[in-house]
Amino acid sequence: MSTPLLEARGASRTFGRGVFDRQRTVAVADASLVIPEDEPVVVAIAGESGSGKTTLARLLLGILPPTGGSVRYRGAELRHLAAKARQTFRRQVQAVFQDPFEVFNPFYRVDHTLTVPVAKFFPELARHERRQRIEEGLQAVGLRPEETLGRYPHQLSGGQRQRIMVARALLLDPRVIVADEPVSMVDASLRATILETLSRIHRERSISLVYITHDLTTAYQLSHTILVMYQGAVVEVGDVEQVIKAPKHPYTQLLVSSIPLPDAKRRWGAGSIEGTPSGAVKPPTVEEGTEVPIAASTCAFADRCPHVMPRCRRQCPPLVQTDAGRAAACYLYEDATVLSEEQVAGLSYGGM
Ligand SMILES: Nc1ncnc2c1ncn2[C@@H]1O[C@H](COP(=O)(O)OP(=O)(O)OP(=O)(O)O)[C@@H](O)[C@H]1O
Ligand SMILES: [Mg+2]
Repeated sequence: MSTPLLEARGASRTFGRGVFDRQRTVAVADASLVIPEDEPVVVAIAGESGSGKTTLARLLLGILPPTGGSVRYRGAELRHLAAKARQTFRRQVQAVFQDPFEVFNPFYRVDHTLTVPVAKFFPELARHERRQRIEEGLQAVGLRPEETLGRYPHQLSGGQRQRIMVARALLLDPRVIVADEPVSMVDASLRATILETLSRIHRERSISLVYITHDLTTAYQLSHTILVMYQGAVVEVGDVEQVIKAPKHPYTQLLVSSIPLPDAKRRWGAGSIEGTPSGAVKPPTVEEGTEVPIAASTCAFADRCPHVMPRCRRQCPPLVQTDAGRAAACYLYEDATVLSEEQVAGLSYGGM
C-alpha cells in the first residue's frame, strides 16, 4: 500500500477529569484507521453516546493531539507537520460538525463563513473568481446562491445552515471530509437529502468521507466500511455488509438488534441480548500515574455481555479476524488470528 493520505495508528486519547481528580477518562483506546491516498472511501464510525467517536474525529482533524499512538498525514505526524504541509492538511481534511449554528457568528452574514476560508486558502484568486467558487460550492449542495448569500444565520433553516457547512468544506477542494453527526440536528425529511449530497460529492469528486453517527441505518447506506466503538475501544471493524448483516461482536449485535425494521413488530435479532438500555455510557477510567497499557484492562462490554466469560474481566480481548474483511474484539472467536495494527488499519478501509 502506498503511504496513506490520513491514518490513525493505535491512536489513544485520555482526559484528566480536573485538577483534584486523579482519574482519567480513556476516550479513545488504540484506534487504527486509514484513508488511502489513491482511492476514495467512505468509512463510518458508529457507537452510542460517549463511545469516543467525536474524540477520534478530533484526533484525525488534528484539533486534539493523541496521548498514545500516532495520527499521520502523508506519513508525517500531525503535530510535527511543517507550516506548508500543515496548510495543505488544513485545506484537504475538512470537518462538518453536528450543530452548524455553533460555527456561525450571528453578527456576520453567512457569506463570511465562506469568504474567509476561500481568501485564506486561495489568496491568488481574483474577487470574482472567489465569488464563483463560492457560488459553485453552494450549488453543489443544492442551495441557490441568490437565496443564501447576504443572509444572517438565523434567517436560514437548520438544513440550509448544515448545507452551507458542507459547501464550505467542499469549496476548499478537500480530499477528506470528516462529518460528525452531520444530520442529527436536521429534520428527518432533510436528512436523506444531505446524506445523498455527501454521497454524491464522494462519487463525483473522489472525496473520502469519515461519517460519524450513532445511527447504523445511515452508516449502512453511506459507507463501505465501519468501525464500531464501545467506551473508547474499536470492538468491530470491517466491511459494512458483513458487520451490519452478520455482526460478530455482542455489542454490535445489540446495536443491530435495536435497528427498527419497517415492520415495527420485527427487529433484527430481537431479544438476543439483555443489558442496560443504550444511552450515555461511562468510559473506563484508570488511575493517574499507573501506566497500565490501555489494552490490558478488561473488556469494556463485559458487564452487559450475555456471553461474558471470566477471562473477559482479566484482559481486554484483541481484535481478531473472524472472517475475511472483518475483525471483532471478542474471546468468543478464540481460534481466530489476532491482527496486527497494520492489518486492522487495512480492514478499516477495505484494503485487506
Ligand atoms: N475535552 C474533554 N475533557 C474531558 N473528557 C472528555 C473531553 N472530550 C470528551 N471527553 C470524554 O470522552 C468520552 C468520549 O467522548 P466523545 O465526545 O468522543 O463521545 P461521542 O462518541 O462523540 O459521544 P456523542 O455520541 O454523545 O457525541 C466521554 O466520556 C467524554 O465525556
Ligand atoms: Mg460526538
